[in-house]
Amino acid sequence: MSALSLSRIGHAFFGRTVLSGVSLDVGPGEVVALVGPSGCGKSTLAHIAAGLVEPREGRIACGYRRHAMVFQEPRLMPWATAADNIALALRLARWPRAARAARLAEAAALADLEPEDLPKYPVELSGGMRQRVAIARALAPAPDFIFFDEPFTALDVALKRRMQDLVVAAAAAARFGALFITHDLAEAARIAHRIAVLDAQGRGLRGVRDVPGVPGARPDVAVFAIVQDWLARDQAFAHVHDVDERRRA
Ligand SMILES: Nc1ncnc2c1ncn2[C@@H]1O[C@H](COP(=O)(O)OP(=O)(O)O)[C@@H](O)[C@H]1O
Ligand SMILES: [Mg+2]
Repeated sequence: MSALSLSRIGHAFFGRTVLSGVSLDVGPGEVVALVGPSGCGKSTLAHIAAGLVEPREGRIACGYRRHAMVFQEPRLMPWATAADNIALALRLARWPRAARAARLAEAAALADLEPEDLPKYPVELSGGMRQRVAIARALAPAPDFIFFDEPFTALDVALKRRMQDLVVAAAAAARFGALFITHDLAEAARIAHRIAVLDAQGRGLRGVRDVPGVPGARPDVAVFAIVQDWLARDQAFAHVHDVDERRRA
């Protein structure tokens, strides 16, 4: 059974179609990147898939037990320490009280946080460290599916790469499947098993492709070649870098 199965999803805001006929399956432990120009409906599709927005059309079947979400902004509670931000997720998930401290340490380690980072407040942490806390918080209740919505867009290039490696390692270690939204094709080519391209004009998916090789084991030259090949030869990617400023979300 699929971890997530979307069938013919359609949605509109105020009469304007943003998604139509979107069908996509994500297997257990599979990372599928979702790309498309700004404003094409990527976040809307993730909200629909996660059950936060009721679609106008289509069906969603979830084979996963528990999901988590990671956004572009870390969305931490400013009045709580890193540890307390992570602990709250465990409390909300009704994680057994006696096992919480150990699980918090495990999640922090998966997100590459050091014990001395944990008593700090968000304001004392850099952007990259805050995003690690957000990832640790997402991982803490041991989700088997994670929605990532452009989580690294605000980070600089070197940091972005480290965070991508972290997601690949965590996905392999904790065996979660993921829908990973990005508008960075190189990011998709580094971390995903497959890539789905959304159409800019709400006409659904332009295509779904296997990414050659294994996530985390693709050398930079391979990532570069994969992206060049998509852009030069694959019609599905023809409008992926279009920008419509009026529709920017
Ligand atoms: N709650 C909403 N109400 C009205 N329009 C919305 C709402 N959310 C998103 N939109 C519009 O739907 C389109 C798709 O948005 P979004 O899913 O955020 O795109 P993306 O994540 O690909 O940038 C955009 O034109 C956006 O302005
Ligand atoms: Mg978005």
